[in-house]
Amino acid sequence: MNKLKVSIVGGSGYTGGELIRLLLFHPNIDLRQITSESMVGKYLYKSHPNLRKVTQLKFSSISELEKCDVLFLCMPHGQSQKNIEVYKELADKIIDLSADFRLKNLDTYKKWYGHDHEKPNLLNEFVYGIPELHRERMKTSNYVSSAGCNATVSILSLYPFFKEGLAEKDRTVIEVKVGTSEGGNKFSASSHHPERAGSLRSYMPVQHRHSAEIIQELSFGKLISVNFSATSVDMVRGVLATIHLFTNQKLEDKDIWKLYRKYYSDEPFIRIVKEKEGIYRYPEPKLLIGSNYCDIGFAIDEETNRVVIIGSIDNMMKGAAGQALQAFNIMHGLPETTGLEFPGFHPI
Ligand SMILES: NC(=O)c1ccc[n+]([C@@H]2O[C@H](COP(=O)([O-])OP(=O)(O)OC[C@H]3O[C@@H](n4cnc5c(N)ncnc54)[C@H](OP(=O)(O)O)[C@@H]3O)[C@@H](O)[C@H]2O)c1
Repeated sequence: MNKLKVSIVGGSGYTGGELIRLLLFHPNIDLRQITSESMVGKYLYKSHPNLRKVTQLKFSSISELEKCDVLFLCMPHGQSQKNIEVYKELADKIIDLSADFRLKNLDTYKKWYGHDHEKPNLLNEFVYGIPELHRERMKTSNYVSSAGCNATVSILSLYPFFKEGLAEKDRTVIEVKVGTSEGGNKFSASSHHPERAGSLRSYMPVQHRHSAEIIQELSFGKLISVNFSATSVDMVRGVLATIHLFTNQKLEDKDIWKLYRKYYSDEPFIRIVKEKEGIYRYPEPKLLIGSNYCDIGFAIDEETNRVVIIGSIDNMMKGAAGQALQAFNIMHGLPETTGLEFPGFHPI
C-alpha cells in the first residue's frame, strides 16, 4: 500500500500536537501539511517542543493547503462546519475532532449548542467516532466525527448495560474528574497558575454538552437521561469517570465480568481492571498517559442494586488523537492498532 497523504487543520493546539506525534511514526502515513494561522512558517517544535529534531515540518496557513487523502480537523467548535465544503474539496476522507458533527438530531444540537447547525444536511454523513460501537459503518465511511473525551469514557463504561437493557434508564449518575489539557492551549483567568494550581474546580456540575452524546449513543430507541457532572482536578492529562448505575435486576460480580467480556474481550484497547489487592485495583488515569487504552473497573453495592463503574482514559489519546487514528485505520482497512501499539508509562 502506498503511503496516504495526510494533513492536519489546527495543528498548533494540544490535540493537533498529539496527532502529529502519532502520525509521524505511522507506517502508512506521509504527513504533509499542518496548519496554524498564528504560527505560519514556524517549525512545528515551536508549538510542540517534544517534537524538536523529530521533524523539520513547518506550519502552513489554511489557504496553502493542497489536496491530500485524509484531513484531520482539530479546530475549536464551529470552525469545521463553517468551511466543511472547502475541506471536502481537499480530501476524500475527513476525521473531525471537534463537536461539530457529533450530534445527529438538529433540535438536540440547538438545545445543547444554542444555535442552529450551519450544515444540517451533513450531520448524518459523519459516523460518530467510537470504533467499538461504530466500526462497521466506519469501514465504508468517508467522514468520522471523533467523540468527546468525557463522552467516550462514559459511553464505553456503560454501553453493555444499556445495550442489554439492564440499566434503570434515568438514574445514572456520572461524575468525571478531568485534567486541564481538556480545555486546549489557550490560556484564561481560570488557567492562571496561582488560581489553578492545587484547585479542585466543579466547573460544570450540570449542563455539560457531552451529556447529549451519551444520551444519543445509549438510548437504543428508548430515550434515557443521564446526570453528568464534571470537576477539573490538578492533573494535566486524563479523565476518571465514577459512574453510579442502578440496575433493574440483581447482578453479581460474575454477571458483570461476563457482560464486559461479551462486549470487550476482543477489543484491543479496552481492559477490565478489577483486582482484589494492590494499589492499582481500579483504573488510574496516570497509568494511561500517552496510550490509547480505556480501562474499566466496577464494584457492586448489593443493598441498592448500584454498580459503581470506574472508567479512565487519556483525554488526548483515547479521548482525541488516539481514537481518531484508530478510526483512520478502520477507514483504510488497516489493522486497527497500527501506530497505537504501546502502553502508558510506569512509574510516572
Ligand atoms: N483537548 C482535549 O482533550 C480534546 C479532546 C477531544 C476533542 N477535543 C476537541 O478538539 C478540538 C481541538 O482541541 P484542542 O484541545 O487541540 O484545542 P487548542 O489547543 O485550542 O487548539 C486549537 C487549534 O485550532 C486552531 N484554530 C483556532 N481558531 C481557529 C480558526 N478560527 N480557524 C482555524 N483554526 C483555528 C489553533 O491554531 P491557530 O490559532 O494558530 O490557527 C490551534 O491549532 C476542539 O474542538 C476540542 O473540543 C479536544
